[in-house]
Amino acid sequence: MVKVCTLLVSLVVVLAILYDGGSAAEQEPRLLGTTENKLGIANWLKENGHEFIVSSDKEGPNSVFQKEIETADVLITTPFHPGYLTADLIERAKNLKLCITAGVGSDHIDLNAANKKKITVAEVSGSNVVSVAEHVVMSILLLVRNFVPAHEMIERGDWQVSQVARNAFDLEGKVVGTIGAGRIGYRVLQRLLPFDPKELLYYDYAPLPANAEQAVKARRVEDLAEFLSQCDVVTVNCPLHEGTRGLINKETLKHFKKGAWLVNTARGAICDRIAVKEAVESGQLNGYSGDVWDVQPAPRDHPWRTIKNPLGGGNGMVPHYSGTTLDAQARYANGTKDILDRWLKGEEQNPANVIVINGDYATKAYHPTNLPLDGQRK
Ligand code: NAI
Repeated sequence: MVKVCTLLVSLVVVLAILYDGGSAAEQEPRLLGTTENKLGIANWLKENGHEFIVSSDKEGPNSVFQKEIETADVLITTPFHPGYLTADLIERAKNLKLCITAGVGSDHIDLNAANKKKITVAEVSGSNVVSVAEHVVMSILLLVRNFVPAHEMIERGDWQVSQVARNAFDLEGKVVGTIGAGRIGYRVLQRLLPFDPKELLYYDYAPLPANAEQAVKARRVEDLAEFLSQCDVVTVNCPLHEGTRGLINKETLKHFKKGAWLVNTARGAICDRIAVKEAVESGQLNGYSGDVWDVQPAPRDHPWRTIKNPLGGGNGMVPHYSGTTLDAQARYANGTKDILDRWLKGEEQNPANVIVINGDYATKAYHPTNLPLDGQRK
């Protein structure tokens, strides 16, 4: 078990950067990841004498985030409205000892800088992996079956079956591959198997245990270009780190089958913004779908909002919400409380939740030496 810092004083300052839920959060208390509902931990912290600062204001030197981080002991952030904890901010965060990601994915924190200051970073592993896996399957289907243009046609009052059927296919008989076969990637494979794909492939520096591989009938491909060139559909399910930033770029896109579909619910910056836009517009990709953006909130003019393939479809982009269903929010709010409670009591953390601790990586998933399998980008 991993032993996390024992705190001797009881009063701590906890800073949470969450998104504003507005009237939706007032009407729906299960929207726990909002500034209004405060992960359901405000009263608990107050009753225990701790200070709890909650805000959505995260950009610029005068933001609540950048000012309050200077005195906070604990930072809670979510990947949905990420407070980007840069090396510079970590340097200024004199009291910071623990960062909790309410959800999964801690790439918005400079993990190397956190290690230098021996700050613990923990996330609620597994809390929303089913939520994302379901979204991935939906995104694959909506691209392959050309769903969005078909629905838009109906809303417009039109009815021209051939216009949408000309680019609609079955998932059955296709080759689907996941980059990353961890908690989410594996669940995607499990859910795809009943669709009778031609083959399921995965690209991951960590091979699956033989029985897990057999259970989903998946084949590991160790070379990225070889992997990409075999897939009709590629789904990205690895963390964003130094080895995966820009992994899907102008060069790697050349290895895709012409007209393949790409789904990315992992992190926006794994895919190059312009390269993906150009690939969809040229028809090299038949479509791109997902919920993650290279900066969040995505600017109004972000090209992924409006890209279309030459037949006018191929865009399944939505805001970052696949991992924040109401079911997921209950799990990550509970998990956040558990991590914080254990830390306040000086108890051990669940090792599955610890990303960095005592100046080192506790998980291989984010380790900076984890370059693509062949060690270089193609
Ligand atoms: P995990 O740690 O269980 O699995 C990640 C897998 O990626 C591991 O098997 C690891 O070996 C593999 N991997 C790492 N670097 C790689 C590389 N360079 N090439 C190939 N494989 C590599 O993580 P989990 O729970 O499956 O989550 C994956 C990611 O999904 C998270 O890090 C996060 O960025 C994203 N996510 C997105 C959510 C959303 O709402 N859209 C919600 C939850 C997670």
